[in-house]
Amino acid sequence: MTKQAFSVLIAGGGSTYTPGIVLTLLNQLERFPIKTLKFYDNDGERQQVIADACAIIIKERAPQIEFLATTDPETAFSDVDFVMAQIRVGKYAMRSLDEKIPLKHGVVGQETTGPGGIAYGLRSIPGVIELVDYMERYSPNAWMLNYSNPAAIVAEATRRLRPNSKIINICDMPIDIMDRMAKIVGLKDRNDLVFRYYGLNHFGWWTDIRDQQGRDLMPEIKAYVAKNGYWLGGDYDAQTEASWARTFKAAADVYALDPTTLPNTYLKYYLYPQAVLAHADPTYTRTDEVRAHREAYVFSECRRVVQNGTAKDITYTGDEHSTYIVDLCTAIAFDTKQRMLAIIPSAGAVANLDPTAMVEVPVLFGANGPERLAMGNAATFQKGLITEQNCVEKLVVDAYIERSYTKLWEAMSLCKIVPDAAVAKVILDEMIVANRDYWPELA
Ligand code: NAD
Ligand code: G6P
Ligand code: MN
Repeated sequence: MTKQAFSVLIAGGGSTYTPGIVLTLLNQLERFPIKTLKFYDNDGERQQVIADACAIIIKERAPQIEFLATTDPETAFSDVDFVMAQIRVGKYAMRSLDEKIPLKHGVVGQETTGPGGIAYGLRSIPGVIELVDYMERYSPNAWMLNYSNPAAIVAEATRRLRPNSKIINICDMPIDIMDRMAKIVGLKDRNDLVFRYYGLNHFGWWTDIRDQQGRDLMPEIKAYVAKNGYWLGGDYDAQTEASWARTFKAAADVYALDPTTLPNTYLKYYLYPQAVLAHADPTYTRTDEVRAHREAYVFSECRRVVQNGTAKDITYTGDEHSTYIVDLCTAIAFDTKQRMLAIIPSAGAVANLDPTAMVEVPVLFGANGPERLAMGNAATFQKGLITEQNCVEKLVVDAYIERSYTKLWEAMSLCKIVPDAAVAKVILDEMIVANRDYWPELA
């Protein structure tokens, strides 16, 4: 029997991750057949560079797929089954300010955590809601898998503002870490692991990891992480940049605080902000590194493909980021009930947390979306941290909905990364000016 073929839209077609997703889709057509692939972006010029290269890749590898790139929402969102969303509202120019403004005031400046993440959140909410509304208008039966950050705040916003929409917010960080864990214990990849995990996005812990035969892998992974964090080195990390190397290694210090679990790398920003600041250069932040490396590489490779008129020698493959989103679509499309991570309302998934908290937990993925698995209680340390951080995320969404300056100031002051409400106010006031083209006006 031939499998049904699907129509996929990549929203944020101009993203640096788009070629990787396309290559993975083309590699996995037997598992997840597609008949149409579309790109949508509100920056047509940026998207066109990627689209011109992808048109050549598709023509060479799967000419039967109908491909188009557009800035018109109706053309993009009509007749699709899956929307893979990955927009960056304000692009790298605004990410740079998210990182640099806090640093000026001695506070960690980071894409998805602290004041930078809050600023990005207020920009992303209307952008992602707009995508959801386009999908519901033009393809009401479609599913959206959303990578657009900051996923924690976006997830809380979509829960509140579009509670019935078919959007699932996802993250590749635990996926990347689980691929590393598999290597540590000599297994192939994350799919060889059976795991328990709970927390918020970029704010969670593994409590149990086993192989498919039920053997407990935690002791071996913990012993490794205590010494090396999640850093593997060698060929595996040959392309890993300096800032990510520090982050993977820093997991050893985060682990030391609670040796009963294994942590997400992002916890370092909350638990060791001084160490992060010690390495920070306020004039050259992660955005500058990304622009010099990933963005420059992706766009120059795409331009080279177009110039040569062929993608036969492309140096590029998909990675855990692209395989994960394709795995999710496959699980929904074929009702596989695969156990995967997603960001969903807790509703008891973590028993002693606010049931409305958007938690990141394993779920069974099938045709009706995610089905919760119960992770039990959060331990006291985790419960305290999660409760505080979740209130920060809820206050940001309150601030957005109520257009409230005070709520946003409270969010920044409550955030563990910001040590002082007066400092929070200085940062907030500067961010309001910087984000005037994106944020709602706050009263
Ligand atoms: P990028 O700037 O290269 O790409 C983002 C694209 O979105 C740009 O082409 C931009 O023009 C477009 N865009 C911005 N606002 C838009 C809007 N309102 N409508 C349509 N298009 C819009 O960024 P990137 O580094 O490739 O990252 C893309 C996104 O994926 C970011 O949000 C990033 O944080 C996120 N991301 C998330 C995860 C995760 O774990 N959840 C992992 C990687 C990347
Ligand atoms: C991980 C996280 C993403 C984040 C990305 C940042 O993949 O899960 O949420 O966007 O790192 O990476 P970058 O290379 O852009 O700093
Ligand atoms: Mn993430």
